[in-house]
Amino acid sequence: MSSAVARACANVALAKYWGKRDEALNLPCTGSISITLSGLNTTASVSFRRGLERDRSVLNGAPAAAKEGYRIERFLDLVRERAQESRPAEVELRTDFPVAAGLASSASTFAALALAASHAAGLSLSERELSILARRGSGSAARSIFAGYAEWFPGESADGSDSYAKQLAPPGHWPLGVVIAITDSGPKTVGSREGMSRVVKDSPFFSAWVASHAADLDAIRRGILERDIRLTGQTAERNCLAMHAVSLAARPPLLYWNPVTVAVMQRVAQLREDGLEAYFTIDAGPQVKVICPTAERTELASALAAVPGVRVLVSEPGPAAELIER
Ligand code: PMV
Repeated sequence: MSSAVARACANVALAKYWGKRDEALNLPCTGSISITLSGLNTTASVSFRRGLERDRSVLNGAPAAAKEGYRIERFLDLVRERAQESRPAEVELRTDFPVAAGLASSASTFAALALAASHAAGLSLSERELSILARRGSGSAARSIFAGYAEWFPGESADGSDSYAKQLAPPGHWPLGVVIAITDSGPKTVGSREGMSRVVKDSPFFSAWVASHAADLDAIRRGILERDIRLTGQTAERNCLAMHAVSLAARPPLLYWNPVTVAVMQRVAQLREDGLEAYFTIDAGPQVKVICPTAERTELASALAAVPGVRVLVSEPGPAAELIER
Protein backbone atom coordinates (compact mmCIF):
# COMPACT_ATOMS: atom_id res chain seq x y z
CA MET A 1 0.00 0.00 0.00
CA SER A 2 1.25 3.51 -0.80
CA SER A 3 -0.43 6.33 1.01
CA ALA A 4 -0.11 9.99 1.95
CA VAL A 5 -2.10 12.64 3.79
CA ALA A 6 -2.04 16.35 2.92
CA ARG A 7 -3.86 19.49 3.94
CA ALA A 8 -4.68 22.67 1.98
CA CYS A 9 -6.67 25.84 2.57
CA ALA A 10 -9.45 27.44 0.54
CA ASN A 11 -8.73 30.79 -1.11
CA VAL A 12 -10.61 33.91 -2.12
CA ALA A 13 -9.82 35.68 -5.38
CA LEU A 14 -9.48 39.47 -5.39
CA ALA A 15 -8.99 39.44 -9.18
CA LYS A 16 -11.30 36.68 -10.38
CA TYR A 17 -10.94 33.69 -12.65
CA TRP A 18 -14.24 33.74 -14.57
CA GLY A 19 -14.21 32.17 -18.03
CA LYS A 20 -12.13 29.37 -19.57
CA ARG A 21 -10.24 29.26 -22.83
CA ASP A 22 -10.18 25.46 -22.52
CA GLU A 23 -12.87 23.72 -20.48
CA ALA A 24 -11.24 20.29 -20.37
CA LEU A 25 -7.89 21.56 -19.08
CA ASN A 26 -9.29 24.39 -16.92
CA LEU A 27 -7.31 27.04 -18.76
CA PRO A 28 -8.48 30.55 -17.90
CA CYS A 29 -9.09 33.54 -20.17
CA THR A 30 -7.49 35.85 -17.58
CA GLY A 31 -4.98 35.81 -14.74
CA SER A 32 -6.21 35.89 -11.13
CA ILE A 33 -4.90 36.78 -7.67
CA SER A 34 -6.08 35.32 -4.37
CA ILE A 35 -5.57 35.13 -0.64
CA THR A 36 -5.11 31.64 0.80
CA LEU A 37 -7.50 31.44 3.78
CA SER A 38 -6.20 30.19 7.12
CA GLY A 39 -8.47 27.89 9.09
CA LEU A 40 -10.53 26.82 6.06
CA ASN A 41 -8.89 23.45 5.51
CA THR A 42 -9.43 20.27 3.59
CA THR A 43 -7.42 17.19 4.57
CA ALA A 44 -7.02 14.52 1.88
CA SER A 45 -5.84 11.01 2.54
CA VAL A 46 -5.02 8.82 -0.46
CA SER A 47 -3.97 5.13 -0.52
CA PHE A 48 -3.28 3.24 -3.71
CA ARG A 49 -3.76 -0.42 -3.04
CA ARG A 50 -4.48 -3.80 -4.55
CA GLY A 51 -7.69 -5.61 -3.81
CA LEU A 52 -9.99 -2.70 -4.53
CA GLU A 53 -12.22 -3.05 -7.52
CA ARG A 54 -12.28 0.67 -8.18
CA ASP A 55 -11.56 4.01 -6.52
CA ARG A 56 -13.49 4.63 -3.32
CA SER A 57 -14.03 8.16 -1.99
CA VAL A 58 -15.46 9.24 1.33
CA LEU A 59 -16.28 12.92 1.89
CA ASN A 60 -16.75 14.07 5.47
CA GLY A 61 -17.62 10.55 6.56
CA ALA A 62 -20.10 9.70 3.77
CA PRO A 63 -19.49 7.90 0.46
CA ALA A 64 -19.06 10.43 -2.37
CA ALA A 65 -22.09 11.03 -4.58
CA ALA A 66 -21.71 9.77 -8.18
CA LYS A 67 -20.77 13.15 -9.65
CA GLU A 68 -18.15 13.98 -7.00
CA GLY A 69 -16.77 10.43 -7.11
CA TYR A 70 -16.41 10.62 -10.89
CA ARG A 71 -14.56 13.94 -10.70
CA ILE A 72 -12.12 12.52 -8.12
CA GLU A 73 -11.56 9.34 -10.19
CA ARG A 74 -10.72 11.33 -13.32
CA PHE A 75 -8.29 13.39 -11.29
CA LEU A 76 -6.64 10.25 -9.86
CA ASP A 77 -6.32 8.95 -13.44
CA LEU A 78 -4.02 11.91 -14.21
CA VAL A 79 -1.78 10.95 -11.29
CA ARG A 80 -1.86 7.24 -12.15
CA GLU A 81 -0.94 7.91 -15.75
CA ARG A 82 2.00 10.07 -14.77
CA ALA A 83 3.29 7.66 -12.10
CA GLN A 84 2.51 4.49 -14.07
CA GLU A 85 0.42 3.41 -11.13
CA SER A 86 -2.37 0.97 -11.91
CA ARG A 87 -3.94 0.36 -8.51
CA PRO A 88 -7.26 1.93 -7.47
CA ALA A 89 -7.24 4.30 -4.54
CA GLU A 90 -9.07 4.83 -1.33
CA VAL A 91 -9.63 8.54 -0.75
CA GLU A 92 -10.85 10.27 2.36
CA LEU A 93 -11.57 13.98 2.34
CA ARG A 94 -12.40 16.06 5.37
CA THR A 95 -13.30 19.72 5.08
CA ASP A 96 -13.47 21.64 8.34
CA PHE A 97 -15.53 24.59 7.13
CA PRO A 98 -19.20 24.53 6.19
CA VAL A 99 -19.26 22.98 2.71
CA ALA A 100 -23.04 22.87 2.83
CA ALA A 101 -22.96 26.63 3.36
CA GLY A 102 -21.89 27.08 -0.23
CA LEU A 103 -18.32 28.10 0.54
CA ALA A 104 -16.38 26.67 -2.35
CA SER A 105 -14.30 23.75 -1.15
CA SER A 106 -13.05 22.65 -4.58
CA ALA A 107 -9.84 24.70 -4.28
CA SER A 108 -8.79 23.24 -0.92
CA THR A 109 -9.97 19.77 -1.99
CA PHE A 110 -8.00 19.54 -5.23
CA ALA A 111 -4.89 21.22 -3.81
CA ALA A 112 -4.83 18.72 -0.92
CA LEU A 113 -5.64 15.85 -3.27
CA ALA A 114 -2.90 16.82 -5.74
CA LEU A 115 -0.29 16.77 -2.98
CA ALA A 116 -1.51 13.60 -1.26
CA ALA A 117 -2.15 11.59 -4.45
CA SER A 118 1.15 12.55 -6.11
CA HIS A 119 3.13 11.54 -3.01
CA ALA A 120 1.16 8.34 -2.53
CA ALA A 121 1.98 7.45 -6.15
CA GLY A 122 5.68 8.07 -5.53
CA LEU A 123 5.91 11.29 -7.57
CA SER A 124 7.91 14.20 -6.33
CA LEU A 125 6.52 17.27 -8.09
CA SER A 126 7.82 20.84 -8.02
CA GLU A 127 5.46 23.56 -6.77
CA ARG A 128 4.77 24.53 -10.38
CA GLU A 129 3.93 20.97 -11.38
CA LEU A 130 1.70 20.59 -8.34
CA SER A 131 -0.11 23.82 -9.18
CA ILE A 132 -0.69 22.58 -12.74
CA LEU A 133 -1.95 19.24 -11.47
CA ALA A 134 -4.29 20.87 -8.89
CA ARG A 135 -5.61 23.14 -11.68
CA ARG A 136 -6.83 20.09 -13.58
CA GLY A 137 -9.13 19.24 -10.63
CA SER A 138 -10.44 22.77 -10.16
CA GLY A 139 -8.93 25.94 -11.63
CA SER A 140 -8.83 27.88 -8.38
CA ALA A 141 -6.99 24.96 -6.68
CA ALA A 142 -3.86 25.99 -8.63
CA ARG A 143 -3.59 28.96 -6.21
CA SER A 144 -4.26 27.01 -2.98
CA ILE A 145 -0.85 25.31 -3.22
CA PHE A 146 0.74 28.56 -1.97
CA ALA A 147 0.81 30.42 1.34
CA GLY A 148 -0.37 34.02 1.65
CA TYR A 149 -1.06 35.69 -1.69
CA ALA A 150 -0.95 33.81 -5.00
CA GLU A 151 -1.16 34.74 -8.66
CA TRP A 152 -2.26 32.32 -11.36
CA PHE A 153 -0.96 33.02 -14.88
CA PRO A 154 -3.34 32.23 -17.73
CA GLY A 155 -0.57 31.03 -20.05
CA GLU A 156 -0.82 30.76 -23.81
CA SER A 157 0.06 27.22 -24.72
CA ALA A 158 -2.66 24.79 -25.73
CA ASP A 159 -1.44 22.08 -23.34
CA GLY A 160 -1.60 24.32 -20.24
CA SER A 161 2.07 23.88 -19.36
CA ASP A 162 2.43 27.63 -18.77
CA SER A 163 -0.78 28.06 -16.78
CA TYR A 164 0.20 27.73 -13.11
CA ALA A 165 0.15 29.81 -9.95
CA LYS A 166 3.01 31.22 -7.93
CA GLN A 167 3.31 32.92 -4.57
CA LEU A 168 3.00 36.69 -4.87
CA ALA A 169 3.74 37.43 -1.20
CA PRO A 170 3.99 35.36 2.00
CA PRO A 171 1.34 35.70 4.77
CA GLY A 172 3.62 37.84 6.95
CA HIS A 173 4.07 40.42 4.18
CA TRP A 174 0.59 41.80 4.87
CA PRO A 175 -1.53 40.17 7.60
CA LEU A 176 -4.96 41.33 6.35
CA GLY A 177 -8.21 40.37 8.05
CA VAL A 178 -10.74 38.42 6.02
CA VAL A 179 -14.27 38.21 7.40
CA ILE A 180 -16.61 35.78 5.65
CA ALA A 181 -20.31 36.57 5.90
CA ILE A 182 -22.35 33.41 5.32
CA THR A 183 -25.77 34.49 4.12
CA ASP A 184 -27.25 31.17 3.06
CA SER A 185 -26.58 27.58 3.96
CA GLY A 186 -28.21 25.92 0.95
CA PRO A 187 -26.16 24.54 -1.93
CA LYS A 188 -25.48 26.99 -4.74
CA THR A 189 -27.75 26.97 -7.74
CA VAL A 190 -25.32 27.11 -10.67
CA GLY A 191 -21.79 25.81 -10.13
CA SER A 192 -18.74 27.69 -11.39
CA ARG A 193 -18.12 25.28 -14.29
CA GLU A 194 -21.59 25.86 -15.74
CA GLY A 195 -21.51 29.56 -14.82
CA MET A 196 -18.23 30.16 -16.68
CA SER A 197 -19.34 28.19 -19.68
CA ARG A 198 -22.49 30.29 -19.90
CA VAL A 199 -20.73 33.66 -19.69
CA VAL A 200 -18.13 32.70 -22.32
CA LYS A 201 -20.76 31.47 -24.77
CA ASP A 202 -23.63 33.75 -24.04
CA SER A 203 -22.88 37.00 -22.27
CA PRO A 204 -22.63 40.08 -24.50
CA PHE A 205 -20.27 41.64 -21.94
CA PHE A 206 -17.72 38.83 -21.83
CA SER A 207 -15.14 40.51 -24.05
CA ALA A 208 -15.50 43.73 -22.03
CA TRP A 209 -14.88 41.74 -18.84
CA VAL A 210 -11.67 40.26 -20.24
CA ALA A 211 -10.52 43.65 -21.54
CA SER A 212 -11.09 45.46 -18.23
CA HIS A 213 -9.63 42.64 -16.13
CA ALA A 214 -6.00 43.26 -17.09
CA ALA A 215 -5.87 46.67 -15.38
CA ASP A 216 -7.58 45.26 -12.26
CA LEU A 217 -5.03 42.48 -12.08
CA ASP A 218 -2.13 44.95 -12.25
CA ALA A 219 -3.71 47.24 -9.64
CA ILE A 220 -4.39 44.39 -7.21
CA ARG A 221 -0.87 43.01 -7.61
CA ARG A 222 0.55 46.46 -6.89
CA GLY A 223 -1.91 47.00 -4.02
CA ILE A 224 -0.76 43.80 -2.33
CA LEU A 225 2.95 44.41 -2.90
CA GLU A 226 2.63 47.97 -1.54
CA ARG A 227 0.20 46.93 1.23
CA ASP A 228 -2.28 49.49 -0.03
CA ILE A 229 -5.71 48.53 1.34
CA ARG A 230 -7.59 51.19 -0.58
CA LEU A 231 -6.11 50.32 -3.98
CA THR A 232 -6.47 46.58 -3.33
CA GLY A 233 -9.97 46.83 -1.87
CA GLN A 234 -11.49 49.28 -4.35
CA THR A 235 -10.14 47.30 -7.29
CA ALA A 236 -11.27 43.96 -5.84
CA GLU A 237 -14.81 45.30 -5.36
CA ARG A 238 -14.91 46.64 -8.88
CA ASN A 239 -13.58 43.38 -10.29
CA CYS A 240 -16.18 41.36 -8.36
CA LEU A 241 -19.02 43.61 -9.52
CA ALA A 242 -17.82 43.28 -13.12
CA MET A 243 -17.76 39.48 -12.78
CA HIS A 244 -21.34 39.55 -11.50
CA ALA A 245 -22.42 42.03 -14.19
CA VAL A 246 -21.13 39.76 -16.93
CA SER A 247 -23.00 36.89 -15.26
CA LEU A 248 -26.27 38.82 -14.92
CA ALA A 249 -26.11 39.57 -18.63
CA ALA A 250 -25.70 35.89 -19.57
CA ARG A 251 -28.54 33.91 -21.11
CA PRO A 252 -30.11 32.50 -19.04
CA PRO A 253 -28.95 35.02 -16.40
CA LEU A 254 -26.87 34.08 -13.39
CA LEU A 255 -27.89 35.85 -10.20
CA TYR A 256 -25.79 34.59 -7.30
CA TRP A 257 -26.98 37.06 -4.65
CA ASN A 258 -29.82 36.90 -2.18
CA PRO A 259 -31.29 39.84 -0.20
CA VAL A 260 -28.84 39.24 2.68
CA THR A 261 -25.89 39.31 0.26
CA VAL A 262 -27.02 42.78 -0.84
CA ALA A 263 -27.56 43.87 2.77
CA VAL A 264 -23.95 42.91 3.57
CA MET A 265 -22.64 44.82 0.53
CA GLN A 266 -24.57 47.89 1.68
CA ARG A 267 -23.38 47.47 5.28
CA VAL A 268 -19.76 47.37 4.07
CA ALA A 269 -20.27 50.62 2.14
CA GLN A 270 -21.75 52.23 5.24
CA LEU A 271 -18.95 51.00 7.51
CA ARG A 272 -16.52 52.57 5.08
CA GLU A 273 -18.31 55.89 5.35
CA ASP A 274 -17.90 55.53 9.12
CA GLY A 275 -14.14 55.18 8.64
CA LEU A 276 -13.55 51.41 8.51
CA GLU A 277 -11.32 50.30 5.61
CA ALA A 278 -13.45 47.32 4.56
CA TYR A 279 -14.04 46.03 1.01
CA PHE A 280 -16.13 43.09 -0.20
CA THR A 281 -15.80 40.42 -2.83
CA ILE A 282 -18.24 37.66 -3.84
CA ASP A 283 -17.66 34.42 -5.75
CA ALA A 284 -20.16 32.20 -7.56
CA GLY A 285 -22.49 32.07 -4.58
CA PRO A 286 -24.28 34.26 -2.05
CA GLN A 287 -21.53 34.55 0.59
CA VAL A 288 -19.58 37.79 1.00
CA LYS A 289 -15.88 37.93 1.87
CA VAL A 290 -14.69 41.22 3.32
CA ILE A 291 -11.07 42.31 3.67
CA CYS A 292 -9.82 44.90 6.16
CA PRO A 293 -6.64 45.85 8.04
CA THR A 294 -6.02 43.25 10.70
CA ALA A 295 -6.57 45.71 13.57
CA GLU A 296 -10.13 46.34 12.36
CA ARG A 297 -11.07 42.71 11.95
CA THR A 298 -12.92 42.24 15.28
CA GLU A 299 -14.98 45.38 14.79
CA LEU A 300 -15.82 44.37 11.22
CA ALA A 301 -16.76 40.82 12.27
CA SER A 302 -19.20 42.05 14.92
CA ALA A 303 -20.71 44.65 12.59
CA LEU A 304 -21.36 42.00 9.91
CA ALA A 305 -22.62 39.43 12.43
CA ALA A 306 -25.27 42.00 13.40
CA VAL A 307 -26.76 41.99 9.89
CA PRO A 308 -29.90 39.80 10.15
CA GLY A 309 -29.36 36.39 8.52
CA VAL A 310 -25.54 36.49 8.68
CA ARG A 311 -23.09 34.12 10.36
CA VAL A 312 -19.40 35.07 10.23
CA LEU A 313 -16.10 33.22 9.97
CA VAL A 314 -12.86 35.09 10.52
CA SER A 315 -9.71 34.27 8.57
CA GLU A 316 -6.38 35.71 7.42
CA PRO A 317 -3.68 34.85 4.86
CA GLY A 318 -2.93 31.19 5.51
CA PRO A 319 -0.30 28.49 4.96
CA ALA A 320 0.70 26.52 1.88
CA ALA A 321 -0.60 23.05 1.10
CA GLU A 322 1.42 20.62 3.19
CA LEU A 323 2.09 16.97 3.53
CA ILE A 324 1.08 15.73 6.98
CA GLU A 325 1.89 12.05 6.71
CA ARG A 326 3.40 9.75 4.25
O1 PMV B 1 -12.09 26.71 -9.41
P1 PMV B 1 -13.51 26.86 -9.72
O2 PMV B 1 -13.92 26.12 -10.96
O3 PMV B 1 -14.39 26.48 -8.54
O4 PMV B 1 -13.83 28.40 -10.04
C1 PMV B 1 -13.72 29.43 -9.09
C2 PMV B 1 -14.34 30.67 -9.59
C3 PMV B 1 -14.44 31.82 -8.63
O5 PMV B 1 -14.40 31.38 -7.30
C4 PMV B 1 -15.79 32.53 -8.84
C5 PMV B 1 -13.36 32.86 -8.87
C6 PMV B 1 -11.96 32.50 -8.44
O6 PMV B 1 -11.03 33.05 -9.04
O7 PMV B 1 -11.79 31.73 -7.49
